Amino acid sequence: MSARVLLVTGAAGFIGANYVRHVRNADPQARIVAYDLLTYAGNLENLAGLTEGDNYRFVKGDIRDAKALDAVFSDEKITHVVNFAAESHVDRSILGPEIFVDVNIRGTQILLEAARRHGVERFLQVSTDEVYGSLGPSGLFTEQTPVAPNSPYSASKAGADHLARAYYHTYNLPTLITRCSNNYGPYQFPEKLIPLMLINCLEGKPLPVYGDGMNVRDWLHVSDHASAIEVVLATGRVGEAYNIGGNNEWPNIEIVKRLAALVDERTGKAPGTSEALITYVTDRPGHDRRYAIDSTKIRDELGWTPTYTFEAGLPETVDWYLENESWWRRIISGEYRDYYAQMYGERERL
Ligand SMILES: NC(=O)c1ccc[n+]([C@@H]2O[C@H](COP(=O)([O-])OP(=O)(O)OC[C@H]3O[C@@H](n4cnc5c(N)ncnc54)[C@H](O)[C@@H]3O)[C@@H](O)[C@H]2O)c1
Repeated sequence: MSARVLLVTGAAGFIGANYVRHVRNADPQARIVAYDLLTYAGNLENLAGLTEGDNYRFVKGDIRDAKALDAVFSDEKITHVVNFAAESHVDRSILGPEIFVDVNIRGTQILLEAARRHGVERFLQVSTDEVYGSLGPSGLFTEQTPVAPNSPYSASKAGADHLARAYYHTYNLPTLITRCSNNYGPYQFPEKLIPLMLINCLEGKPLPVYGDGMNVRDWLHVSDHASAIEVVLATGRVGEAYNIGGNNEWPNIEIVKRLAALVDERTGKAPGTSEALITYVTDRPGHDRRYAIDSTKIRDELGWTPTYTFEAGLPETVDWYLENESWWRRIISGEYRDYYAQMYGERERL
């Protein structure tokens, strides 16, 4: 079996934690070094149940800290890097773009440089379909679509992609890039669309929908994203980018209505109760109208297919949030940050 030693950065975030769990189940022999700065979005509870020992270790660290990275690369003899670490929320990037440039671009470069110094078999940069900009009512993003980001977040992710590509062409570092559509599933931080709407339905709070609600996104279950990353990491061609998507396009307003109906059904509220909470708010500046992914390349070349349908995945996600109320309540109340402050003797950055 494999003797991989994986450095998973951003492992305490939504997708990173789901990926770590996926690898733990699919490849118990792999050693996983989970590396995360534990910002407001990082939560050790997302990794609960993984025990420190022969094949798992958590390191609190910054991808911008070359010294800390050097220590991890040499102590652990890292063979593979999967970089999830990022500032990830578009709205926050509009309010304060600097940290996005610093973490997503400069941080990725520092991590690439560490991987180059120490030599790794593979470096996978986790990116997003948002780097391609916006589509009209038809058409799909392919890997040949020109990169044309519209928000500080997507611009910073595009910058990181270019660096990953350049490290392959300039230094022969075996880098790969994945560009995935919107993810949903367990452990998603409550500021993102699906958990935010779900929790507001449960609490009877307004459901704020940007503009006319007709912005279209392609949605993929986070465990399908995790399996796609594993496939690209194992068998993708170095120097290449791979799109990952679910052929599952929905206008935002439809998602919100579906969630509202599911919450009413699951909690015994009268049909229509939660939908009545929908409130249209002023559109986000630079709000891309439509994203849609052509994932033919990963499907045909590497044989990946998603396993979840939205019909199964969305109700399952609603149930997860219902069953894990204490998880999101602690985040909302800020209790988990106090816990880190105690554990690590410092106050986390907000
Ligand atoms: N959420 C999506 O739908 C989606 C879709 C496509 C791609 N992506 C990409 O996937 C990655 C993960 O997204 P997510 O939704 O899990 O984000 P998230 O915000 O939930 O997690 C990000 C993690 O990175 C950590 N982090 C932030 N700055 C760091 C630093 N300087 N050093 C080390 N760790 C740091 C945070 O503590 C957090 O645990 C991101 O790179 C994002 O751009 C996300």
